[in-house]
Amino acid sequence: MEFNIKSGSPEKQRVACVIVGVYESRKLTFAADLLDRISNGFISDVIRHGDMEGKLGSTLVLHSVPHTLCDRVMLVGLGKEREFRAKEYREAVRASVKALTQTSASEAVSYLSELTVKKHDVEWMIEQATVVTLDALYRFDRFKSKQDESAREPRKLTLAVPRRSDLADGEKGLQRGLAIGNGMKLAKDLGNLPGNVCTPSYLADEGRKVADAFGGEAEILGPKEIAELGMHSFLSVAKGSSEEARLIVLKHQGAKDKSDKPIVLVGKGITFDSGGISLKPGEGMDEMKYDMCGAATVLGAFRAVVEMNLPLNIVAIVPTCENMPAGNAVKPGDIVTSMSGQTIEVLNTDAEGRLILCDALTYAERFNPATVVDVATLTGACVIALGHIATGLYSNQDSLARELLAAGEEVADRAWHMPLWDEYQEQLKSPFADMANIGGRPGGSITAACFLSRFAKAYDWAHLDIAGTAWKGGKEKGATARPVPLLVQFLQDRADIALGNVVRRGRPRREAPEVADDEQD
Ligand code: BES
Ligand code: MN
Ligand code: ZN
Repeated sequence: MEFNIKSGSPEKQRVACVIVGVYESRKLTFAADLLDRISNGFISDVIRHGDMEGKLGSTLVLHSVPHTLCDRVMLVGLGKEREFRAKEYREAVRASVKALTQTSASEAVSYLSELTVKKHDVEWMIEQATVVTLDALYRFDRFKSKQDESAREPRKLTLAVPRRSDLADGEKGLQRGLAIGNGMKLAKDLGNLPGNVCTPSYLADEGRKVADAFGGEAEILGPKEIAELGMHSFLSVAKGSSEEARLIVLKHQGAKDKSDKPIVLVGKGITFDSGGISLKPGEGMDEMKYDMCGAATVLGAFRAVVEMNLPLNIVAIVPTCENMPAGNAVKPGDIVTSMSGQTIEVLNTDAEGRLILCDALTYAERFNPATVVDVATLTGACVIALGHIATGLYSNQDSLARELLAAGEEVADRAWHMPLWDEYQEQLKSPFADMANIGGRPGGSITAACFLSRFAKAYDWAHLDIAGTAWKGGKEKGATARPVPLLVQFLQDRADIALGNVVRRGRPRREAPEVADDEQD
């Protein structure tokens, strides 16, 4: 779909659909009021008759509103008139997009960006409207022989800004929104692809494409090079599969000073997790194609920030392989030596994520990182602890944890800070090796993070367990692209700090819109 930014009055729009907000208790927004006046109270009549109560997220499409130039007017309920919270604004935008796909309108102009959202400016309003719209329109139907006709994608959406002087900020917001939206689409596509298509070498090709498209560097290592690095923990997981392992390394040198310490993102890329010899039960095993969502979101976030050309040095590292049972697969009781030299007793081959990540974390040391953040669908225990709402966040540096929490809060992609206390490390003791790869059922997400922490001592590190948030089950089954928004916001915040731009997102939006300057298409 094509996006556009403009300023201008709603009654002057010659378009298939104009989208405006209405409040509860029959109050109209500025744009809705303009349409009401020109149509001699048509809209307030509809509202008076009780067909639209203005509840947040409700919608009503009206046809042939007198004296307007558009075919339809969509009223979007906004709840009580007040300063909006970010979440509510996004909900209104999402509702309007969903309702638009139920009409046959191919073009629309939305006036929802005229709302006032706490602590946010026009640029942010447009950015978020773009991200939410792309997210709501996303479909994954490339393996359907017939496309689903029940929802259409509009051809063009124009986002109206309150005044002409907002156009430049609106355009900036749009570009940022598109970059984030493209990154999220990449993450969802990779997540949703089946394991027989999205193999380790496929992921590597996709990684290379991202780097090539935006002037980044890509280095892809195969089994031989991975063995030469001493990553025997990683390779032990790959052993049972006929698909070769890959280590994907992408670089973006965006900082003014190329020698600035990079931020390193590490993503778990198990393209299918059968459990290996510790085989998983059959029910729902298909969902283990999503076990590369850490990798997908790292690639997605990387794509977004290189498209924005954020002034930071960033490295993405993705260890990727399948976890399969076979005659030559790693077995419970096997002892492997990690790249760090620490030995690991593999008590359960289904705890494979940490076995590939530990070597990637050691590899990260060579970049002399400012910060390392790993992202992984690591434990079922995290789903039990936090459900599908919050990502589990662990860190060896409280200030880093706070940054990530704040970034997630900002973009409705929230994480929750979990403990990484020494007492939990006890559970990883092994009589035969330096550590076991599992710590028993109690606190399973925590002991997995404790395991990783032993390989992340050389730098500030955080771990995001996205087992509950990376994909949805049920009717709307599919990858969510979480935590791409969180990661992008975190990186943007770091870039702002580097530029001395400390409170970019705290900028207040200007006052109520002026009477729109009437310009025609
Ligand atoms: N990929 C799974 C974690 C997972 C499970 C993610 C369910 C999403 C939903 C991981 O590799 C795994 O199998 N973890 C085991 C660890 C256990 C053997 C200590 C688990 O969580 O059961
Ligand atoms: Mn597993
Ligand atoms: Zn796994």
